[in-house]
Amino acid sequence: MVLEKSNSQSPAARPEWLERYRFGLRVTEQGTIVSIGDGIARIQGLPSAAMEEILIFEDGSRALVFALERDMLSAILLAQGETLTAGSIAHLSGRRLSIPVGDNLLGRVIDPLGMPLDGGSAPECAGRQDLDVLSPPIVARDFVNEPLYTGNKIVDTLIPIGKGQRQLLIGDNGLGKSSLAIDTVINQRDKNVRCVYVLIGQKRSTVVGTVATLRQAGALGHTTVVVAEATVTPGLNYLAPFAGCAIAEAWMAQGQDTLVVYDDLTMHAQAYRELSLLLRRPPGREAYPGDIFYLHSRLLERSTRLAADHGGGSMTALPIVETREGEIAAYIPTNLISITDGQIYFDAALFAGGFLPAIDVTKSVSRIGGKAQHRRIAQEAGHMKLDYLQFLELEVFTRFGARLEASIEAKIKRGRLLRELLKQDRLSPLPVEFQMAWMVAYNAGLFDTVPSNQIAAVLDRLAQWVGGSGLSLDTKQDDWKRELRNLLTAHTQEHKGESHGARAIDEKSEGTVVDVRTRR
Ligand SMILES: Nc1ncnc2c1ncn2[C@@H]1O[C@H](COP(=O)(O)OP(=O)(O)OP(=O)(O)O)[C@@H](O)[C@H]1O
Ligand SMILES: [Mg+2]
Repeated sequence: MVLEKSNSQSPAARPEWLERYRFGLRVTEQGTIVSIGDGIARIQGLPSAAMEEILIFEDGSRALVFALERDMLSAILLAQGETLTAGSIAHLSGRRLSIPVGDNLLGRVIDPLGMPLDGGSAPECAGRQDLDVLSPPIVARDFVNEPLYTGNKIVDTLIPIGKGQRQLLIGDNGLGKSSLAIDTVINQRDKNVRCVYVLIGQKRSTVVGTVATLRQAGALGHTTVVVAEATVTPGLNYLAPFAGCAIAEAWMAQGQDTLVVYDDLTMHAQAYRELSLLLRRPPGREAYPGDIFYLHSRLLERSTRLAADHGGGSMTALPIVETREGEIAAYIPTNLISITDGQIYFDAALFAGGFLPAIDVTKSVSRIGGKAQHRRIAQEAGHMKLDYLQFLELEVFTRFGARLEASIEAKIKRGRLLRELLKQDRLSPLPVEFQMAWMVAYNAGLFDTVPSNQIAAVLDRLAQWVGGSGLSLDTKQDDWKRELRNLLTAHTQEHKGESHGARAIDEKSEGTVVDVRTRR
């Protein structure tokens, strides 16, 4: 009766899927959980499962196929219902893991599966992106040729970063690695760079603190925070950086500039090690599985600068890695050093000596960022790094109390002045015109007469002045010098009385940083 009725309809009126529908046998596989625990399920009865395929359980829980054996597979649990237990039924979904992507993620805090963690509704995004995809081929890439400003004095002048570069932040715990990454994200305000901050295996207090800091600084509007707390399953910790990368990748494909922070990959390596040991994979060096290098290089290779005919977008990556006792030759740190395009090294002795940010210029490099630096900044920064390194070596002599040649003493004095100038508080990223201003003033010797206790005040004044000065990077050097000389002369006149009794910059007590370093 019904069939007759439908037959009488014209074919045009029937939906397309009905037209194509054919009755027939369909073979489906049904798996059963053999054992479950520690975020891992071992399942029998799914012989055609593929690696990284999503499994759906009868209670709606989901898992990701992670290891295939002869008659068993292991899957990492992504969402676990309370009733999931040995004997539960699993089906193949035929899909790979993907995450919603798009501008609606800006300002949101999400987990690695795209679920909201900020109390809001699930982000509505038109697009989805696979978590694990191939990195762009060489022909789709371009040279790193545009600077990405961090707002940090040392980095923007001496260790410059370009858009599409992968720059490692490395150092012991509590030395300011995350602070530099957060400052860099904050500095992308109004610069049309979309940011993704991935927190992996962090304490809840750190997560809350980071989100609050970004919000207060007005940086959440251009940022997505992807969070896998320390308490979630190792599977989610393992997926977090890939999720962050996929979100940035989708923007990059649209021609946008993006910045991704992985905070931190030590935790990521540990989560992967935990997963691998639970899956009984053979442990290698430091008990990490042998493919940990491949895992991190696969992740970081996806950061790049795309060629103009591929949209011209870019993904800059700031992976963070923690060292123990400054040991950069440990397994994960050396891996990451060799994968990235440079590193910013944080030193415990500098931190203890009050040199903040505690960036050790001697061990930090940027292999490709120099090419992307603005011509005028590169010119002013010119020999600054070499001179500074030379000064650090020379300063060691001053501890012997030997009488030094006048020329060496002058170099040491200039070096100490530079060290004072390079100090910077956290949460105060500075515009690139400011970097230009202090470097021109330093190179022209305009700070030489400023007493050490007034350096900070002079720099504050410089920072306030530079925005309204109308000067830009393309302004002639002579014009910069003239304006700066006027400003500094005015400052000296106003504070004439205060400088009385101030320590000169070259007194021995200024060498505290070096002293701490030697005691180590
Ligand atoms: N430039 C700075 N000026 C003043 N204080 C700073 C500066 N940079 C970092 N700090 C302080 O140093 C401490 C450690 O910073 P942060 O948490 O960024 O370090 P970390 O290396 O990320 O640590 P962890 O290894 O625990 O993640 C914080 O209390 C922070 O306020
Ligand atoms: Mg940190």
